Amino acid sequence: MIIKSPQTRQEFFDYYDLRWRILRAPWNQPKGSEQDELEGQAIHIIAVEEDKVVGCGRAHFNSDEEAQIRYMAVENHLRGKGIGKMILDELEKKVIEKGAKKIILHARESVVKFYEKNGYRIVKPSHTLFGVIPHYLMKKTI
Ligand SMILES: CC(C)(COP(=O)(O)OP(=O)(O)OC[C@H]1O[C@@H](n2cnc3c(N)ncnc32)[C@H](O)[C@@H]1OP(=O)(O)O)[C@@H](O)C(=O)NCCC(=O)NCCS
Repeated sequence: MIIKSPQTRQEFFDYYDLRWRILRAPWNQPKGSEQDELEGQAIHIIAVEEDKVVGCGRAHFNSDEEAQIRYMAVENHLRGKGIGKMILDELEKKVIEKGAKKIILHARESVVKFYEKNGYRIVKPSHTLFGVIPHYLMKKTI
């Protein structure tokens, strides 16, 4: 398993496709809905196995000291093997190198425990995505 930033056009294509398939398609969201206006300035990490992008995550800065993680996803059949943690660790390493003092994220209810195991704590309930997926604002202080 290789943990890296996407570089080639194909890697970026596969990365956004994975995001769409896991985080958007099950709720009938169109292609393109897996991206936002911060892609150009964000830190992107992918997990690659046998030339296939099987996991991903992204980080951006909300201020000099506050980073935010978004779009964490691992292929269904490869979950629970530590890939998500490897991606999260790499994103954290990179934002800390750039001066982050705290990291926030909005976690789907179903993955709150994953983030708790990685040192994040619930701050408060946040939005409900697509009217059906409750989220929690979580924070980790470095
Ligand atoms: C969240 C996600 C990226 C985690 O990836 P993963 O590769 O399965 O996670 P890991 O194998 O690195 O898990 C690390 C630890 O968290 C636990 N964990 C992972 N997902 C969990 C979940 N949904 N509920 C409870 N515990 C979970 C693992 O059991 C493991 O615990 P351990 O260290 O005691 O063995 C993955 O489940 C996923 O893609 N989910 C669907 C998309 C999604 O909801 N993304 C988050 C949007 S906010």
